[in-house]
Amino acid sequence: MKKFNVAIDGPAGAGKSSISKAVAKKLGCIYVDTGAMYRACALYAIENNIPITAEGLQNELDNIKIRIKYAEDGQRIYLGDVDVSGRIRESDVSIGASDIAVIPAVRLKLVEMQRELAKTNNVVMDGRDIGTYVLPDAEVKIFLTASVDERARRRVLEMEQKGQTADFETVKKDMAYRDKNDSEREFAPLKQAEDAVLLDTTELTFDEVVTAVTDIIAKVLD
Ligand code: DC
Repeated sequence: MKKFNVAIDGPAGAGKSSISKAVAKKLGCIYVDTGAMYRACALYAIENNIPITAEGLQNELDNIKIRIKYAEDGQRIYLGDVDVSGRIRESDVSIGASDIAVIPAVRLKLVEMQRELAKTNNVVMDGRDIGTYVLPDAEVKIFLTASVDERARRRVLEMEQKGQTADFETVKKDMAYRDKNDSEREFAPLKQAEDAVLLDTTELTFDEVVTAVTDIIAKVLD
């Protein structure tokens, strides 16, 4: 099969990561979760009491050692030698990631890693700016979305399945905060690329979304 990259963008909780993971498995390529990279940077700042501002981080970027490993169960992310794949999903890190993603120097560091991965592998990469900025020449671009209520409902369910308690209104408020922050930042905001296919998943099941995405990819790559 020829070399290809699939860019999947959309707001928090639209199902990008679970869909991208399933689609990458079907295609036999790697799934790159770029949100995890922003989350790992935010965790570094939180753990080291560094303010999440351009000034606070300017002399720290070289100290943030992010490594990605591909295991049977997908992408694992490391800060130095520590596997932080679980910790980065907690809500303080979610908010921190959205805040840190506003800082251009952080984005430039991570975008370089993302482009390198896409150059050397076939990837399904998800994020906010993949189709518009990171991989503008991706063969396939999909913008996944769903209503904020549905996205919050899914996130609550996911947290409850992990045994965590979740309050719908708090989850929805955090999501609305991130939507605004991610869409209104100046540099590489969350935005649908002009040549992306829009897929609203509000009324669709997980399997229906996987099928829809796989069909879009098959049409383009055939
Ligand atoms: O997809 P996620 O929820 O794991 O992403 C966490 C935060 O990282 C999100 O609120 C915005 C930021 N992000 C970004 O700005 N650009 C990306 N390509 C991926 C994530």
